Amino acid sequence: MYFIFIICFIIAFFITVLFFSRIKYIEHNLTLLSSLIGVIEVRDPNLEGHSLNVRNLSLLLYYHLPFSYQIQINPLKLQYATLFLDIGKLCIPSSIIEKCGKLGKDELDIIRYHPHLSANVLQNVKGFQKIAKWIKYHHERVDGRGYYKLKGDEIPLASRIMAVADTFSALVMERTYKPSLSYEDAIAELRLAAGSQLDRALVEYFCAISMRDIEKSMEEVKAQMQMYSLENCMSKKE
Ligand SMILES: [Fe+2]
Repeated sequence: MYFIFIICFIIAFFITVLFFSRIKYIEHNLTLLSSLIGVIEVRDPNLEGHSLNVRNLSLLLYYHLPFSYQIQINPLKLQYATLFLDIGKLCIPSSIIEKCGKLGKDELDIIRYHPHLSANVLQNVKGFQKIAKWIKYHHERVDGRGYYKLKGDEIPLASRIMAVADTFSALVMERTYKPSLSYEDAIAELRLAAGSQLDRALVEYFCAISMRDIEKSMEEVKAQMQMYSLENCMSKKE
């Protein structure tokens, strides 16, 4: 009996060690991936840390959701999805992405296609099919007027979470074609979009997060992006 207990203890110990080393390995991968995404986005004034913001804000929202929501999503997979969500924009000509004026219908159609392009990047990666699906629907509208005409709960929960974080980040960030909004104005815009573009319940959970936590999360991204900024590196050298 005593011998069986020792054997069970050793097996449980090794399973625990394997589990935590696997988590550590995934976290290392995510850190590496966020650095690469940051370096890619630093060149584009209309992205500049946007995906990193979406990652941080989506995670913040995830941890403010009730347990019944949280058990539906693996937060590690959510991070991969948020970091890759706009990678498809790299396939779109910069003349369209960086255009200051109003976009024509054809140009808008090309922009609207970027979730599909992003999903294609991951589609054939083993174990990433679910993440690719979340990415594909990250701009779907809950009223069913989106690109794929999915409605409400037909849109994966992770995609609806990313949509709230994505919209907030886009509103508060300055772009070549629009100024940035304050926290209060961006929250007001989210509430206006609740129930039509965005999931109403998720918007309310997002609005319940403290302004301090949201700003802290965005400050972290700003600091990370500063590290990749050529001007910043040159000024430190001088
Ligand atoms: Fe997007």
